[in-house]
Amino acid sequence: MKIAIIGTGHVGLITGVCFAEKGHQVICIDNNKKKISQLKSGRMPIYEPGLAKLVRRHRTKKRISFSDRIRDGIVSSEIIIIAVGTPLAQDGSADLSYIEGVCYEIARYLKEYRVIIEKSTVPVATGERIKKILMKYAPGVDFDMVSNPEFLQEGKAIQTTLFPDRIVIGVENARAETIMRRLYKDFKAPILVTDLASAELIKHASNSFLAMKISYINAVARICELVKADVTKVAHGMGLDKRIGAEFLKAGIGYGGYCFPKDIAAFARFSEQVGYDFDLLQTVRRINETQRDYFIKKIEEELWIVKGKTIGFLGLAFKPQTDDIRESPALEIARKLIELGAKLRTYDPQAMPNAKQVLKKNTKYCRSPYEAARRAHCLVIATDWSEFKQLDFRRIKKLLLHPTIIDGRNMLKPQQMKKLGFVYRSVGRV
Ligand code: UGA
Repeated sequence: MKIAIIGTGHVGLITGVCFAEKGHQVICIDNNKKKISQLKSGRMPIYEPGLAKLVRRHRTKKRISFSDRIRDGIVSSEIIIIAVGTPLAQDGSADLSYIEGVCYEIARYLKEYRVIIEKSTVPVATGERIKKILMKYAPGVDFDMVSNPEFLQEGKAIQTTLFPDRIVIGVENARAETIMRRLYKDFKAPILVTDLASAELIKHASNSFLAMKISYINAVARICELVKADVTKVAHGMGLDKRIGAEFLKAGIGYGGYCFPKDIAAFARFSEQVGYDFDLLQTVRRINETQRDYFIKKIEEELWIVKGKTIGFLGLAFKPQTDDIRESPALEIARKLIELGAKLRTYDPQAMPNAKQVLKKNTKYCRSPYEAARRAHCLVIATDWSEFKQLDFRRIKKLLLHPTIIDGRNMLKPQQMKKLGFVYRSVGRV
C-alpha cells in the first residue's frame, strides 16, 4: 500500500521504516528541510538501534523516500498518517497546533478518497476536530478518519513497532477497518477495533498507567529503606502475580522522556476539562518529581557539602539505548548538582552531543566511564546503560578519590559492591 507519514520524529520515522519492512511503499514528510536532506543523504537525526541499517536497506529497495512537501504524499498515497509532535502547552494540556497546521495542509491537497490516520498521542476528540477541518476546507472530498495510536518504546523502537503487543484501530465504518486490516496484515499481533474516542483514550490511559506503576514502586522503595527491605525483591514478588506483571516495576530516579511527563499532564488536564478530577495522576507526578530530590539527598548525605566537589556522573539519556535527553531525570539531577556547586565529569555512550547543547557549565564530557571516575569524590549512576554493569570496579575504585557509588538505577549488587570496599547507595535497598 502507498503510505505518507507526516512528521519524521521518533514515531514517524520508525513507523515509516517498519511499514517499508512489511512491504509497503512509504514517503516520510517533514517541514524541517535540514532533517529531510540529512535523511536523504543517509544520516539519521536520532540514535535508535537498527534504524540506520533498516532505512538504508529500504532506500536501496526504493520502498522509503523523504520529502519536505506534504503535497508529494497526499497526491500519491492512499493512507496519510499524522505523526507530528504534541508538546505540552503552558496550561498543561497537549499543544495541538502542529496537528492543526498539518490538517490545513492536507485539506489543501485532498482531492480524492484517503484514509487519514492520527498516530500522534492526542486527547480524546482530536479525531473529530481533524474531521471538521477537513470537511470545512476540503468540502465534498471523501475520507475516513482513523485513530491508530503507537506504543513504541525508544531504544527498542524497531522491535516494539514490528512486534507490538497489540494494534489499536479506532474507526467509524467498515471501509476504514478493511483498509487498516490490510495495512497491518503482516503484523502478528492482536488487532483491537474500537470507535475513535476509545482508541484515543487507550493511549493516554496506557501511558498514565505505566507511569503509575513506576511511581508506585518508587513509593514502595522509600518504605523499603525505612524498614530495611529490598525493593527489587518486593517488585519481583509482586510481578510474579500475573494480574500485576513484572514490567515497569523498576525503582530508581523516576520516569522521564518526551512521552510520560507530557501525556500524564495532558490526560490530567483533559480529565479536568471534561469534568473529572483525576487526582491519582497528580500524585503519580508528585512522587516522580520528589524522587529526584530524594536521590540528590542521598548524594548530599555521602558528600556532605556538594559545593566544590567533583562528581563522576554516568548516564545523561532518559533511558538506555537512546540519545534522547528530553525530560531526562539524569540530566535534571546533573543540573541540580551543578546548581549546588558540584563539578561534573560525565559520560554517556550516546547522549553527550545532545547534552552538550544544554549542559555546559562545570561539566567535563569524558571519553569513558573510567575517565569520568578519575579523582571524583563519588560516582553517580543515572541511566541504566548495560555497559555500566560490566565496568572493572577495581579500577574504578583506584580512580575515585573515595570509593563511593550512588546508583540511581539499582544496577549493581549491594553485597558485591560492599565486598569490593565501596560505600554503595541505591534506591530502596540497604
Ligand atoms: C513510552 C511507552 O512505554 C510507550 O509504550 C509509548 O509508545 C511511548 O512512551 C510514547 O508515548 O510514545 P518511552 O518514552 O520510549 O515509551 O520509554 P519507556 O520505556 O516507557 O520509559 C519511560 C521512562 O520510565 C524512562 O525514563 C525509564 O527509565 C523509566 N522507567 C521505566 C522506570 O523508571 N522504571 C521502569 O520499570 C520502567
